[in-house]
Amino acid sequence: MAIAEVAAIDNWTPKEREEQGESLQRDGIVIRTYDLWKTYIMGDQEINAVSGVDVQIKRGEYVAIMGPSGSGKSTLMNLIGCLDTPSRGLYYLNGKLASDMEDDELARIRNKEIGFVFQTFNLLARASALHNVELPLIYAGISAHERIEKARAALRAVDLEKRMDHKPNELSGGQRQRVAIARALVNNPSILLADEPTGALDTKTGDEIMALFERLYNEGNTIVLVTHEPDIAMHAHRIIHIRDGKVDRDEVTRK
Ligand SMILES: Nc1ncnc2c1ncn2[C@@H]1O[C@H](COP(=O)(O)OP(=O)(O)OP(=O)(O)O)[C@@H](O)[C@H]1O
Ligand SMILES: [Mg+2]
Repeated sequence: MAIAEVAAIDNWTPKEREEQGESLQRDGIVIRTYDLWKTYIMGDQEINAVSGVDVQIKRGEYVAIMGPSGSGKSTLMNLIGCLDTPSRGLYYLNGKLASDMEDDELARIRNKEIGFVFQTFNLLARASALHNVELPLIYAGISAHERIEKARAALRAVDLEKRMDHKPNELSGGQRQRVAIARALVNNPSILLADEPTGALDTKTGDEIMALFERLYNEGNTIVLVTHEPDIAMHAHRIIHIRDGKVDRDEVTRK
């Protein structure tokens, strides 16, 4: 869609919005933002953390988001992950308009269609690896038996089945991050969003995580990852550079 048309999104009728979603779905576009903004009000100051972002990501793409500290990467990821709502603009996830979704549908999508890996792992300290990975399945209302099967399979996928009874403090940093990734993957989400997944790791464990992402990508998953490190970004096939809340450059790095 041409920029001139994008600028007119405020005027789209509900029918046009719906048709747009259908066309995105037909084209296999899982993430599409139109003039997306996130503005924070701090006293008498307005901070545009995300200011007019148009991005389009197809199913099965492997995309890195780079940019200086404070440029809006995490804010954008939170919008894409439906953890936050935009101040302006449209966001289509799998062809559906996020703003049109009811709370329960959003909760379902956050839980089922999107796997989110946080920089700081966000694991429950007193629960075993297995229980941590089981959590999203509990929220999804899946039976205990099936939960354990699926959680074990997810831990197996990150080579941690042998450590499933360990609590986070009984695991290495890389293993914790792998538990967090298993948890993000346990519901078979179509999209994996990872905000600095290797930021807290040494080079070797970082490389292990990147090898895992490569495999997930080869299995057809869509991956969007935020990183400061050019070495990490080079694993992706496309790099979106963010500056001052805007897309500065969008480059294809390898086929
Ligand atoms: N809740 C908030 N209230 C006010 N301002 C915020 C809030 N969250 C973020 N910001 C501001 O929005 C801008 C973008 O923040 P964001 O966390 O998205 O940056 P980032 O690119 O992820 O940075 P980093 O690389 O350091 O993680 C920053 O200037 C930040 O201070
Ligand atoms: Mg950030």
